[in-house]
Amino acid sequence: MAQPDDQFKRVISHAKEYGYIFSSSEIYDGLSAVYDYGQNGAELKKNIREYWWKSMVHLHENIVGLDASIFMHPTTWKASGHVDAFNDPLIDNKDSKKRYRADVLIEDYAEKLNQKAQKEIEKAKKRFGDAFDENEFVNTNPRVVRYREEQDRVIKRMARSLEAEDLADVKALIEELEIADPDTGSRNWTDVRQFNLMFGTKLGASAENATDLFLRPETAQGIFVNFLNVQKSGRMKIPFGIAQTGKAFRNEIVARQFIFRMREFEQMEMQFFVRPGEELKWYEHWKETRMKWHLSLGLGEENYRFHDHEKMAHYANAAADIEFNFPFGFKELEGIHSRTDFDLKAHEEHSGKKLQFFDHELNESYVPYVVETSIGLDRMFLAVFSKALEEEELENGSTRTVLKIPSVLAPFKAAVFPLLKKDGLPEIAQQIVDDLKWDFNVDYDEKDAVGRRYRRQDAAGTPFCITVDHETKEDNAVTVRDRDSMEQVRIPIDKLSQFLHEKVDFKHWMS
Ligand code: GAP
Repeated sequence: MAQPDDQFKRVISHAKEYGYIFSSSEIYDGLSAVYDYGQNGAELKKNIREYWWKSMVHLHENIVGLDASIFMHPTTWKASGHVDAFNDPLIDNKDSKKRYRADVLIEDYAEKLNQKAQKEIEKAKKRFGDAFDENEFVNTNPRVVRYREEQDRVIKRMARSLEAEDLADVKALIEELEIADPDTGSRNWTDVRQFNLMFGTKLGASAENATDLFLRPETAQGIFVNFLNVQKSGRMKIPFGIAQTGKAFRNEIVARQFIFRMREFEQMEMQFFVRPGEELKWYEHWKETRMKWHLSLGLGEENYRFHDHEKMAHYANAAADIEFNFPFGFKELEGIHSRTDFDLKAHEEHSGKKLQFFDHELNESYVPYVVETSIGLDRMFLAVFSKALEEEELENGSTRTVLKIPSVLAPFKAAVFPLLKKDGLPEIAQQIVDDLKWDFNVDYDEKDAVGRRYRRQDAAGTPFCITVDHETKEDNAVTVRDRDSMEQVRIPIDKLSQFLHEKVDFKHWMS
C-alpha cells in the first residue's frame, strides 16, 4: 500500500504524464499555485461541471442558471463584507522567512491530537477483537479522553480569539503549544496579522481615470446582485435557486497541495432563496442532497464526512463542510452555508434598491434568506482523480496502473482498436468511431500490441476498449473490455451505442 505522500506524488506526476494537469507557463518554470488543464484534464473538468449543472439546474424545476461577470462594481465587495473581513491571519517565521496561516498551524496541531487518539482506538480494536466497545473505550480511556479534550480546548480557544479578532492571543496559543515551522522546526515567530485575500486590478485607459476593481473572490455575489433580475424575468417563486459556475480568485497566503488551494480556481455555487425562518430546514435538505450527489459517483462512502463549523463566516447562522479523504487526509471539498439575509440586505443598503420578494401566499414582502452550496471544481477534480488512481496487482503477479474515473466523468468513454493494422480491420474500427463520436468522446488507437493499448487506456482512464478482430467480419460483433473488471464481452456493432449509453449516461449515475 502506498504511503499518503507517495500516493500524492504519484497523483501529480500521473496527471502530467497523461495530459490532465500541467504547471502554468511551465517553459518559464511555472507560476506558483497556478495550473493548466491539458487535453484530458479539460474533458474531465468539463464533465464534472456538467454533472453538477445537470443535477443542480436541469433536475430541479425551481433552480435556474446564471453566468455573471468576473468584474463587478467595487461597492459589491464593500457590501458583501469582503473589503473589511475577507482576511486570513498570517504569521511569518523569522528564521525560515516562510509564511503560514496561523489558524492552519493550530488546526494541524489539533489534527495530530486527533490522529493520536485514533491510533489508540485502532490498537485497542486489534487487542480486544469482537469484544471491543468503541463508544465505551472513547469515553473512558484516559489517553483518548485527554487527547480529545485537548483538541477541543485548542480549537475552541482559537475560534474565540479569531471571533474577537484577538490576534495576540492567536500568537500566544501558537507559542503555548510550542508549534514549530513544519519545514525547519524553528519557533521564532512574528506577530499574527490579517491579510486581505482579494486581488486588486484597474479598469480604465489612463491612470488618473482608472477605477479600482477586485477580481471576484467568490461567484456568489454575482447571484445576489442579479437576484431581482432573475426572479422577475423568470417569474420565480420562493423557494427557488440560482446556480452558476465560474472562475474565482484569491491571493492565498499559502497556496499548496497542488490544485487543492489555488490562486485562480473555479467554483460551482447555488444560492437557494427561502422564506425567513425556513432556512435551517432547507440547510438540512441541501446538506443531505449534496452528500447524495457525491455518493452517486461511487468513490466510497468512507471517504466523505461532514464537519460542522464552530466558527461561522460573518454571514452565516449555520455552516458545514463536506470533507473528502484526499491523499493528505480529510479536507474541505464543499461548503453548505445558511447565509441568512445578510447579503441581500447589505446590497439593499449599499445600492438603495429593494431586493425583496412579494409572497402571495403570505401577502407580504420580505428579504429572502439564503442557503448556499459551494464547491470548488478543481478540488472536486482532485478528489475524483486521486481516488481513481490505483496500482493494481493482477492474478498473474504483474501490476497495472489504472485510473478508475467514474465512466460518466471519464474524458474518453471508449477506445476503438483494430486487432491488426491490415485485412480491413482499421476501416471497420474507424467506421465505429465515426458512428459513435456524435454521442460519445471516443479514441482510435492502432499502435502496439493490444495488451499495451489496454494498459495505455487503463492509465488514461478510458472505461471501455472495443476491439475489432477477424471474426468481426463474420459476425459484425466486437470485443468490449471493461477497464475495472477487465472482463470481456462480445457485442454486436449495432448495439454498441445502446451499451455505452447505459453505462455512461448521466441518468444511469444520478437516478
Ligand atoms: N461562496 C462561499 C464560498 O466561497 P468558501 O468555503 O470560501 O465559500 C467554497 O469556498 C469552495 O470553494 C470550497 O469548499 C473549495 O472547494 C473551493 N475553494 C475555496 N478556495 C479555494 C482555493 N484557493 N483553491 C481551490 N478551491 C478553493
